[in-house]
Amino acid sequence: MCGIVGIVGARPVAPLIVDALKRLEYRGYDSAGVATVEGSTLDRRRAEGKLVNLEERLNGSPLAGNIGIGHTRWATHGAPVEVNAHPHFSSEVAVVHNGIIENFRELRALLEEEGFTFSSQTDTEVVAHLVASGLKSGLAPKEAAFAAIKQLRGAFALAVMFGTDANLIIAARNGPPLAIGHGDGEMYLGSDAVALAPFTNRITYLEDGDWAVVRRDSVEIFDETGNTIDRVQQTSIGSALMVDKGNHRHFMLKEIYEQPEVIGHTLANYVDFNASRIALRDMGDTANPLDFAKLDRLNITACGTAYLAGYVAKYWFERHARLPVDIDVASEFRYREVPMAANGLSLFISQSGETADTLAGLKYCEAAGQHLAAIVNVRESTIARSSHNVFPTLAGPEIGVASTKAFTCQLSVLAALAIGAGVQRGHIDEASEQRLVEELSEAPRYANEVLKMENEIRKLGHTLAHKEHVLYLGRDTNYPLAMEGALKLKELSYIHAEAYAAGELKHGPIALIDEEMPVVVIAPHDRIFEKTVSNMQEVAARGGKIILITDERGAQEAGMEEAQVILMPNMPEIITPIVYSLPIQMLAYHTAVHMGTDVDQPRNLAKSVTVE
Ligand code: M6R
Repeated sequence: MCGIVGIVGARPVAPLIVDALKRLEYRGYDSAGVATVEGSTLDRRRAEGKLVNLEERLNGSPLAGNIGIGHTRWATHGAPVEVNAHPHFSSEVAVVHNGIIENFRELRALLEEEGFTFSSQTDTEVVAHLVASGLKSGLAPKEAAFAAIKQLRGAFALAVMFGTDANLIIAARNGPPLAIGHGDGEMYLGSDAVALAPFTNRITYLEDGDWAVVRRDSVEIFDETGNTIDRVQQTSIGSALMVDKGNHRHFMLKEIYEQPEVIGHTLANYVDFNASRIALRDMGDTANPLDFAKLDRLNITACGTAYLAGYVAKYWFERHARLPVDIDVASEFRYREVPMAANGLSLFISQSGETADTLAGLKYCEAAGQHLAAIVNVRESTIARSSHNVFPTLAGPEIGVASTKAFTCQLSVLAALAIGAGVQRGHIDEASEQRLVEELSEAPRYANEVLKMENEIRKLGHTLAHKEHVLYLGRDTNYPLAMEGALKLKELSYIHAEAYAAGELKHGPIALIDEEMPVVVIAPHDRIFEKTVSNMQEVAARGGKIILITDERGAQEAGMEEAQVILMPNMPEIITPIVYSLPIQMLAYHTAVHMGTDVDQPRNLAKSVTVE
């Protein structure tokens, strides 16, 4: 997703802006640009592709100036070519934007009538011309920017700079996040605190409808009616965290390897290992802790991998806490006009805490008077700040676009919540709670054991690398895990992959099976293992090539000599979704590496999807 950086500084800012944009690379982008004001000259450099191209352009033709704005663009309106890259200019005005201006066509028509000429296909360019139109009519820069912002519909985080004022950036937020960083004699803007980490950890997050006048020595924030408003300045913990790959070839691999540690770290926040009890730590409204005993229904809303974590948790909450769960992808939920239960809890799961669809689902539930809870990795995110109860995952920054450690940490929190809910609702007695907590505490150890299987999994990944299609099968919690396996393979390797509940295969998808079709079956030996074996036999009988992920007992009882087996350690059932995530991540990773795709930033994908 697009990234924004702005600096009103006391030194040349172009190289600083590029460095800050590098810290936003993980969000995904396809072009980039920087603009500065030097004296009263507004100038810019833009480039298609990676930031290295922009750097080359700047090396050949540097930009002077102590004030500037920069942008990494993830194309929505208009192809990812230089002419569409931000900043966009209109005479003395420069604009960078994250989001979508929904009424840009109608604004563009009006501006063209007024005599403005458009040089890009973007929705953003209307903002530059709108501000310029205000200036033309005699408004001062601040007033012209406010007048323009009021005309915009849609989602936007904006930074506007003026060739006529080398000490002013106007920032505005309605949807995608925007943070102001406070320095000494310098002020900063960024899509998140990580971008501003080298400059400051003193951060103010703009709320929806806010806009701000940012100068070298001051920041004034206004609401949508133009009244001054106070927003808290906080110390960002995100800022302190540096982002690097260590010894690993990719961020994704580093993040896979971090899992034993971050799963343990996350569990420790929700479990008292000494007493073997659940001890939920809520970072939200601690005066009103969540009481699962009072709930009639839980609805979980999320996107992508976070949705699949919620899907696993549906099985856990229903089984261990006898709590009915609805699970939705946020992009459907937000428009489905769902009637909400009177005693319901709405739970939102998001690594970034900024996903536009998930946030819109939250707003819907808020308007319906629901109690709101969130599981987020970014504690200062909008979803966290908008929820009553907040359960952070302690995964640390996840940079690889494909979610790995955030997923297993989400599962860790969800497992603790489901057990805690079971206890509160009287369906789990003390002895069972102790047993389940002790089983949970084993997850990091088993995850560590699985990491040792990387070589073997690498070889299997190579066998998938030239396939056109791959199927994934699982039952129970392994069904959403199968979906996660297929999602990982698709996004990383661009191989078409699909997942089915194993029992559903015979209702249609079995027609796809032939000698060319690899079928990954996720099946620890559990209560319904035999049922999955029958489904595997249906595949084998039709020549399908099975990769079976199971434990020792499962491998013995499956009795399928033709299957390739990823042999997992025997482990308690409650932790299998967490630990079995690792082989499916490594399988997708090694397939993709063998194929030479861009593992950390796969084509067309963004880390944090802040548009609809
Ligand atoms: O930041 P979020 O958890 O809300 O993001 C949700 C999805 O966009 C994300 O999980 C996406 O599916 C990942 N690319 C999956 O690896």
